[in-house]
Amino acid sequence: MSTHEFTREDSIHMARALHVAERGLYTTDPNPRVGCVLVKQGRIVGEGWHRWAGEDHAEVAALRSAGNDAEGATAYVTLEPCCHHGRTPPCTQALIRAGIARVVAAMRDPDPRMAGNGLKALAAAGIATQCGLLAADAEALNAGFCKRMRSGRPLLRSKLAMSLDGRTALASGESKWITGEPSRRDVQRWRARSSAIMTGVETVLADDPQLNVRLDDGQDAVLQPVRVILDSALRTPGAARIAAPPGRAIILTAVSQADRQAVLSAAGFEIQTLKTGHDGRLDLASVLDYLGRCEFNEVWVEAGPVLNGALLRENLVDEWIIYLAPCILGNEARGLFRLPSLKRMADRHPLQLLDVRQIGSDLRLRYRRIDG
Ligand SMILES: NC(=O)c1ccc[n+]([C@@H]2O[C@H](COP(=O)([O-])OP(=O)(O)OC[C@H]3O[C@@H](n4cnc5c(N)ncnc54)[C@H](OP(=O)(O)O)[C@@H]3O)[C@@H](O)[C@H]2O)c1
Repeated sequence: MSTHEFTREDSIHMARALHVAERGLYTTDPNPRVGCVLVKQGRIVGEGWHRWAGEDHAEVAALRSAGNDAEGATAYVTLEPCCHHGRTPPCTQALIRAGIARVVAAMRDPDPRMAGNGLKALAAAGIATQCGLLAADAEALNAGFCKRMRSGRPLLRSKLAMSLDGRTALASGESKWITGEPSRRDVQRWRARSSAIMTGVETVLADDPQLNVRLDDGQDAVLQPVRVILDSALRTPGAARIAAPPGRAIILTAVSQADRQAVLSAAGFEIQTLKTGHDGRLDLASVLDYLGRCEFNEVWVEAGPVLNGALLRENLVDEWIIYLAPCILGNEARGLFRLPSLKRMADRHPLQLLDVRQIGSDLRLRYRRIDG
């Protein structure tokens, strides 16, 4: 197996496979988004992508679209083909049976129990294999899946909407709307690609949000993310709108109160009791472990300064997506992160800027945690 020597044509076909994989952006959970392009004598003879868990993997969909043309073709796959029986049979067998001559994978399967075995199985069957083409793009497409496979925890993204002076709500708690309509549509797309949307109970009490996906751009299918509320003392009202949309709504709590649990279960919530942290609130590391056990790949946080401050302090957020609106709310308005006051500049929390984009008249800033 080699990790180098790719041609320009290889790059073009892998870029196409990545493009095709993106069609599963809103639907493949808990599986990764994967695309496959089959090429013979420079011509694409088949392509496919993984759409829903339990349905065809990308390779099988591509083989089906190619029919007999698959024999002797090169398969460009955005993730190493699987070699195990999961919900569907192994893709390695399907590729071997179809007479594929060469397989180029963008990256290995990040599951440490699998990594490399799919490519080894193909090589053992006499198929030429290569890996590592456009690997960074493939990894970015499935950043949450990769993180969960390697650490057991999902990728956490926190969304914050703020004024030019860094305020997220008025002193009264009112925060609708700081940003413009295009930013709010952008938020819907981030929500749609997430396995779960997580918030704190104070946001539920203040805003009574639904936290579901409402896309208006003709996107055909979305797997609705699970709504998750961090509510140590079960203060969520039974009538909260977050329970109403189709799909699951989970309350994570630190207490066992049979009467409250009965009311909330009857309202449609699932209740999960987790470990309490040192401050009597939910232990956030246990929350992340729980979300990983739920097989959530990307979790999207929409919460206020209290939960955001706690997540920041515990170093649990991977990315912050910040919408900066061209307005001023003044110094009485609330900040983004409730943190103990810092005594020294050396204690500040540095972030790494990934991307800046104009969305309508707002700016979207994307930051990543600096590990170290
Ligand atoms: N601009 C924006 O992007 C945006 C987004 C969302 C919300 N908001 C605004 O934010 C305001 C609410 O903010 P908030 O800061 O008061 O509430 P919050 O962050 O939404 O929720 C905080 C609550 O989460 C619960 N929690 C459970 N475990 C926790 C832990 N380990 N650490 C911290 N909190 C934990 C706590 O209640 P228990 O102790 O009872 O569990 C805590 O009071 C609202 O006005 C809303 O409009 C703004």
